[in-house]
Amino acid sequence: MCGIIGYTGRSESLPVLIDGLKALEYRGYDSAGVAAAADGGLVVVKKKGRVAELEKAVAPRGFFSRCGIGHTRWATHGEPSDENSHPHCGGSGRITVVHNGIIENYLALKRELADGGVKFRSETDTEVIAHLVQKYYEGDIHKAVTAALGRLRGSYAVAALCADFSDTVIAASYHSPLIVGLSSDGTYLASDTSALCDRADVLYRMSDGETAILRPTGAEFYLDGKPVVKKAIERSWQYGGAGLGGAESFMLKEINEIPRALKKTADYYDGGFFDSERAAKTFAGVRKIFITGCGTAYHAGMTGRALIERIARIPAETDLASEFRYRKPLLRRDSLCLFISQSGETADTLAVARLSAGAGVRTACITNVPGSALAALCDFTIPTLAGAEIAVASTKAYNCQLLALYRLAFHLAYMRKRLSKSFYKENLSVLSRIPSAASAITENAYRDILPLAEKYKNGRDIYFLGRGLDYYTALEGSLKVKEISYIHCEAFAAGELKHGALALIERGTPVIALLTQGELKEKTLNSLAEAKARGAEIIGVGKTEYIADAGVFDGRLTLPDTPDLFAPLVSVIPAQLLAYYTARARGCDADKPRNLAKSVTVE
Ligand code: G6P
Repeated sequence: MCGIIGYTGRSESLPVLIDGLKALEYRGYDSAGVAAAADGGLVVVKKKGRVAELEKAVAPRGFFSRCGIGHTRWATHGEPSDENSHPHCGGSGRITVVHNGIIENYLALKRELADGGVKFRSETDTEVIAHLVQKYYEGDIHKAVTAALGRLRGSYAVAALCADFSDTVIAASYHSPLIVGLSSDGTYLASDTSALCDRADVLYRMSDGETAILRPTGAEFYLDGKPVVKKAIERSWQYGGAGLGGAESFMLKEINEIPRALKKTADYYDGGFFDSERAAKTFAGVRKIFITGCGTAYHAGMTGRALIERIARIPAETDLASEFRYRKPLLRRDSLCLFISQSGETADTLAVARLSAGAGVRTACITNVPGSALAALCDFTIPTLAGAEIAVASTKAYNCQLLALYRLAFHLAYMRKRLSKSFYKENLSVLSRIPSAASAITENAYRDILPLAEKYKNGRDIYFLGRGLDYYTALEGSLKVKEISYIHCEAFAAGELKHGALALIERGTPVIALLTQGELKEKTLNSLAEAKARGAEIIGVGKTEYIADAGVFDGRLTLPDTPDLFAPLVSVIPAQLLAYYTARARGCDADKPRNLAKSVTVE
């Protein structure tokens, strides 16, 4: 949610900033801006719209600079407009800042500053920071930024530039990520490693409350006014190469990467990952597991709950992080809180992690960014190796989160002696065959799924239906369709249909029915028959034998033969593809759906 970039070094800064903003655009894309130190002053250019608009606006300005900051925005305070775009300047025009996060006390600060004669040009909370830095500036920009931050309540990643220090960027982070990168060419700043991997040799993640002074030759870090020695982010956890590589979109590329991502993640766990002492300490004697996440990660958590209860026989609950944090949960010493987050920086999930750590319970997370704030908060991190995920709608990370949950459930069952060694190994060997089953779907997708997308692209509603594990997949499928195609789409538990949702079925209403669980097949077929009798057009997604019934199905997407328990790892793929092709057929930008952003770093 909002991307920050910064550079000071030997090269011209503008191309570095624009490239960085393009790499970070998935974090927010309603406006963008840059500020650069040039000719003894600052040049600030900002524009409503995508980074491409900013690029066009910057080109004719003809200035040269080796130091600057940039921002791509997802609006919180104030509509997307040129004025509300970052950077924002203090009154002198010689100090400017960009910001990611939310300043909770900005109205009080705004009143205070306005009473002192400050004129505001935007509706943003960020402008308050710029004027505060200006107010505290007495010739030391690092000191002024530190003093301004002391007045703020909320979360922030901030980069500041002052015309009096034309080769220096000041950075600060609190509950919002910032990465500092070093290379022989200069010093970089970004919200995410993916924007820096190809430029910097060493990366450092800023911790809560830290500030940094970036100069062309390196960076100094401070906490509470004292210098800090930082440990670099491990190279293996840095995601680079996040380009399109000839694909038509990131989302399609990422769906096609599912088999490889699953294989890489499985191989990593096969190297004895769950046998570590740390794993043993985290999971020993756990009597209850609370799983939380947001969006797609929450859906993975719902499947995870079912797996952990069914396989390991440990009671588990799954909640939306935004609900759990205000639920006053009954956490006990023998509880484990498990967080799922692709980015490891989602504000609500992080808030629950802090709450759980504060309550003294054990914590673990499943994340695609092992150096993330979430991982830093948890006792144990289960990484997924999906690689950089750029499309706003999560796909390959979800499949890998599921894989992690299967492995965890089997591991817990084995630890609790509910699974013999040979059964444990047998299940792991089924999991190792999943990547090829996933390939079988992605390779034939065009033939099977495109015609359905064409058929339903102008429809008003699409419904997903499933029972048991299929219900959770249905929820994820419907989220994918609505977020990128903007068609109204909902998922229902098949058994609940007649308790309300059946009223929505009309002649021709598309229902995507998941049937991967043999023991529930008959029951789901009964629900489908009821929908069919009211005119629904039913597309069955499942094994050949489960969707053979000629009287019910109007279309079929046949899944490769996978044991029922493991079906969720692959049955979601047709839904991911259907969502993508439907969005494409409607002319929607699947990678950057309206109103959304990939990392939701505000509550
Ligand atoms: C946003 C994204 C979703 C994602 C959710 C949770 O809403 O658009 O795709 O599932 O955040 O993100 P996380 O990084 O915590 O998994």
